[in-house]
Amino acid sequence: MAARIIDGKTIAEQINAETRAESQRLKARGITPGLAVVLVGEDPASKVYVANKEKMAADLGFHSALKRLPADTGEGDLLALIDDLNFDRKIHGILVQSPLPKHLREDEIWDDIDPTKDVDGFHPLNLGRLAAGQRAPVACTPAGIIEMLVRSGAMPSGKHAVIVGRSIRVGRPLQLLLSQKGRAGDATVTVCHSRTPDIGAHTRQADILIAAIGQPRFIKADMVKPGAVVIDVGINAVPDATRKSGTRLVGDVDFDAVKEVASAISPVPGGVGPMTIAMLMHNTIAACRARESA
Ligand SMILES: NC(=O)c1ccc[n+]([C@@H]2O[C@H](COP(=O)([O-])OP(=O)(O)OC[C@H]3O[C@@H](n4cnc5c(N)ncnc54)[C@H](OP(=O)(O)O)[C@@H]3O)[C@@H](O)[C@H]2O)c1
Repeated sequence: MAARIIDGKTIAEQINAETRAESQRLKARGITPGLAVVLVGEDPASKVYVANKEKMAADLGFHSALKRLPADTGEGDLLALIDDLNFDRKIHGILVQSPLPKHLREDEIWDDIDPTKDVDGFHPLNLGRLAAGQRAPVACTPAGIIEMLVRSGAMPSGKHAVIVGRSIRVGRPLQLLLSQKGRAGDATVTVCHSRTPDIGAHTRQADILIAAIGQPRFIKADMVKPGAVVIDVGINAVPDATRKSGTRLVGDVDFDAVKEVASAISPVPGGVGPMTIAMLMHNTIAACRARESA
């Protein structure tokens, strides 16, 4: 029997409805949540992501500020903009869209964001808090994956979760979240990466398999345990002559084959992507509430 589809779009809509209600509650008290999105350069995919974030922020009643900088912006100028946003009372959350042009060091930029406005959860202080089991803004994609699992009834507790990918954006915080004590954690976690020999030997042990690799259709059906829950984080453009654009988006999982083996699977598009934006808005509301003591 084909797997149940974990519909990220529908789950994201539920979360957005909760955020909208919270935004209205704050508005009634004269408080408007504010999100600043910084885009450096002209990367086409980044432009689409940023436009989607702006649209969602406006839809939820946030004050949203898009800051566009040219691709040759120096690190000093970008840091100066972030310092301004750190002091801007109307702004509760700051997101710097990645990837940044190669000459800009992401670590330096993340370090400069006021940790209380770090709605991406990449500041070392917030990553450290997460590792220590303390409250902190959590990176949007891993936080969205946890919400997807919990709200679709695939509770991680007691399960063996295997993550392929160990990036700071996805794999690393997800490893911390899934293994932390509590309702949405309590999993036994294995993390694989490019230096892991025989990845299939690990993925075949997974009750919950999460692919965050950036390699189109990397996870094949014979790498998946029958009945596993599979979350596909990857977004990869592959050639498709039938499309006007000449490309289409696929995940890191060979969806058509794996859905015949898994019990539940998230699609690409329409899976983790909408969840990431929903969690960004959720983190912005949380940052607003914390600063305004509301
Ligand atoms: N849906 C969303 O909202 C969303 C959000 C973020 C990312 N993404 C997508 O998710 C994917 C991963 O993103 P990322 O930012 O985590 O990427 P990344 O920083 O490039 O990290 C990729 C990870 O995958 C591992 N990897 C790469 N090739 C591998 C291979 N052949 N075998 C095993 N492991 C391999 C890397 O291992 P090493 O550490 O050893 O190099 C690394 O840990 C991308 O397709 C990205 O577009 C989607």
